[in-house]
Amino acid sequence: MSLNLQSTITLNDGTQLPRFGLGVYEMTEDEAYQSTKWALEAGYRLIDTADWYDNEAACGRALRDFCAESGVPRSEIYYTTKLKHNLGAKSAYASIRRSLAASGLDYIDLYLIHGPPGGPARRRESWAELVRAQKDGLLRSIGVSNFGVRHLEEMRVGWEQGGVVGDDEWVGVKPSVNQVDLHPFMTRDDITSYCMKHDITLEAWAPLVRTMRFNHPVVQRLATKHAKQPAQVLLRYSLQRGYVAIPKSVSRERIVSNADVFGFELSEVEMQELHALNEDLVTDWEVTTCP
Ligand SMILES: NC(=O)c1ccc[n+]([C@@H]2O[C@H](COP(=O)([O-])OP(=O)(O)OC[C@H]3O[C@@H](n4cnc5c(N)ncnc54)[C@H](OP(=O)(O)O)[C@@H]3O)[C@@H](O)[C@H]2O)c1
Repeated sequence: MSLNLQSTITLNDGTQLPRFGLGVYEMTEDEAYQSTKWALEAGYRLIDTADWYDNEAACGRALRDFCAESGVPRSEIYYTTKLKHNLGAKSAYASIRRSLAASGLDYIDLYLIHGPPGGPARRRESWAELVRAQKDGLLRSIGVSNFGVRHLEEMRVGWEQGGVVGDDEWVGVKPSVNQVDLHPFMTRDDITSYCMKHDITLEAWAPLVRTMRFNHPVVQRLATKHAKQPAQVLLRYSLQRGYVAIPKSVSRERIVSNADVFGFELSEVEMQELHALNEDLVTDWEVTTCP
């Protein structure tokens, strides 16, 4: 199957999620506006932001400006944002409304619980509010981020029974996505097998390992062999694993070159070689095993 920058993957709720996007973590508002515009102009169709990043307004404005200037309909662009904290039911719905207002958009394509901290009751309350906001038409797809197997198992009782809304039970909707740090140096085989088995799409954050392993000899060798950059080898690994990759860059040149990953292929042996580099490397936060 040949992929391109606008290839999509079908989520378990039936909607289409682009296979490749721009992450905007640690960007100022100006950087986020400019990078989002450059990415959309280069053909990207997925933008990944969060309440936490303090740049939702800039991303939403860039998206709206791009649509107005290019004629590309809003419906062809996929906007993701995330719930900052699990602070209880009322707080979650209010956060969704705030994020929506900040972006200036009519709906959010994908909304994720940013992480599991807060405990089972708070996670459950947040999830119930995401389901409610989805039914109200504010959110198209809903999912989680940094959820470990234990957190997904908590939810499974709800989605397998379907439609349960008790005081201490999970609302019966399966998350469509789990966004986790995934790359050859952090493979998280337990989480990825679980999500693949249960048809939960994996999005890879830090797909470039935050540049920390560009000089690794295996990455360097494969880059030379395929006449590609280390970043492109890592992104190709992500795509061939079946993940949605969301590399971050504030440079127009790197935004364009990062997307030039659809014209070559890593062999099965090369994929295995990369996958064997796992060292459980934490590049940012690690909450997948929190209570
Ligand atoms: N759910 C979560 O908890 C979570 C956590 C972290 C991140 N994320 C999401 O995932 C996205 C990506 O992860 P990330 O930002 O942590 O890390 P990343 O994409 O692995 O790496 C970003 C770093 O790589 C550099 N870079 C990008 N392209 C490059 C290239 N071609 N050559 C050399 N350097 C390059 C960037 O610098 P320049 O900008 O200068 O190019 C930046 O320093 C985030 O932006 C965010 O949307 C989610």
